[in-house]
Amino acid sequence: MAVAAPPVREAQTASVDGVFETPAEVDALITDVEGQVPAGLVGALYRVGPGKLDLADHLFDGDGMVSAVHFGPAGEIRFRNRFVRTDKYLAELHATRPKVAGFGTRAAGGVLGNALRRPTTKNNAANTALLPLNGRLLALWEAGHPWQLDPDSLETIGEMDFNGALEARLPFSAHPHRDPATGEVFNFGMVYGPRNSVATYRIDAQGRLHHVAETRVPAPVLNHDFIITDRWLVFCLGPARVHLLPLLSGLASFGDSIHFHRDQATTVVLVPRDGGSATYIDAEPWFQYHFAGAFDDGDDIVVDLVRYPDYESINAPLKDFRHITAYQPEERLWRYRISPTRRSVEGHEVAPLSIEFPQVDPRRATGGYRVVYGACGSQGGALSGIARIDVSTGETDLHDFGDGHLASEPLFVPRPHSDAEDDGWLLALVYNPGRRAGDAVVLDARAPSAGPLCTAHLPVNTAVTFHGAWRDAR
Ligand SMILES: [Fe+2]
Repeated sequence: MAVAAPPVREAQTASVDGVFETPAEVDALITDVEGQVPAGLVGALYRVGPGKLDLADHLFDGDGMVSAVHFGPAGEIRFRNRFVRTDKYLAELHATRPKVAGFGTRAAGGVLGNALRRPTTKNNAANTALLPLNGRLLALWEAGHPWQLDPDSLETIGEMDFNGALEARLPFSAHPHRDPATGEVFNFGMVYGPRNSVATYRIDAQGRLHHVAETRVPAPVLNHDFIITDRWLVFCLGPARVHLLPLLSGLASFGDSIHFHRDQATTVVLVPRDGGSATYIDAEPWFQYHFAGAFDDGDDIVVDLVRYPDYESINAPLKDFRHITAYQPEERLWRYRISPTRRSVEGHEVAPLSIEFPQVDPRRATGGYRVVYGACGSQGGALSGIARIDVSTGETDLHDFGDGHLASEPLFVPRPHSDAEDDGWLLALVYNPGRRAGDAVVLDARAPSAGPLCTAHLPVNTAVTFHGAWRDAR
């Protein structure tokens, strides 16, 4: 059922305040559209992020809200958004204080309310990423199991464990990577305890989960993402160490129990894709949340990632997220060449631009690519633009939506009947401060600076979204 758009207020200043307001759930036919949907763009853009943040002390702790923008065959656009009905969402729906601990939010009740609490299904916010898998849609969180949704209605079906193949003690992280050549999906989970390890998984074309390895890691560190090549599962474990004493004693949140040790190495851990012994190589210390891509180059591995100088410089603005426009970004796209034979890791900055949520053409995710896309900082500091970076030259092309806008990760969708890299569109959600609501935008991937080909003004705030997925309906 279509509903009328709520009245919108003109922002007094270019502020992102409205992006943190909890939106209503709506189903709407979108008629307020600038430009035209490109012919051949038919499918659904799914995105997820922290839609309900009223109890959160950290941007990572809002309840997961999924938005779906459906581009129909006649150019029509439909929008639907739903919260994931996790245990956490239902427990806190009418609460005035946090009932469960999150990444950077402690539960109410002080030390007693937080001590000796391991992440369980009750903490899972299902707010980080989406994985379409064999007709299912999974909402993911870093330290828990997936929550399954109906891909059309977005109704919550429930938590899932791959028919028992995913043990209760093992998390299924929010950064699965699909091999375009084989259709396999790889993922991991960090395991903390007496023996710190990373568990790795392979999901076959039938959607069955298999364990690849459980690999020892040198320390309990925060690790959000990894990357795959034809031969390796690649982890870059920066010295952002989790200190278990303040966490387990209930004195600090998980996020505040992490400290970056500048005198320690980032350890590159290479896990063979078919399991077996890992290779460990120490490098200069850095911190990353996200990888853009990677590929094998002879015996070497080339990895592109968004590098931060440390953990604290990004965690502070994520805690103070309501003032995130004041954040002075320090993240940059870096390329590293990893040599298992020389046991070396050499890196350089690709472009002097602040960028996050990097993406590549998914058809080239393991086979070599030339272009990386991402949300980028521009005039205002925060992520108000979308950029295209040629990683071979560092050449950058970007569109800035303007002060107070907040752009999501751009997803690349190929143009039909073309297999050329970069020939397609970038799809993103952008918070529009003038309307205090979200816009769905489509840009030409080869020239973001030309501006949106199409802007669909959505009826609600679509919140900050971390990651998403495209379901092609052609
Ligand atoms: Fe992420």
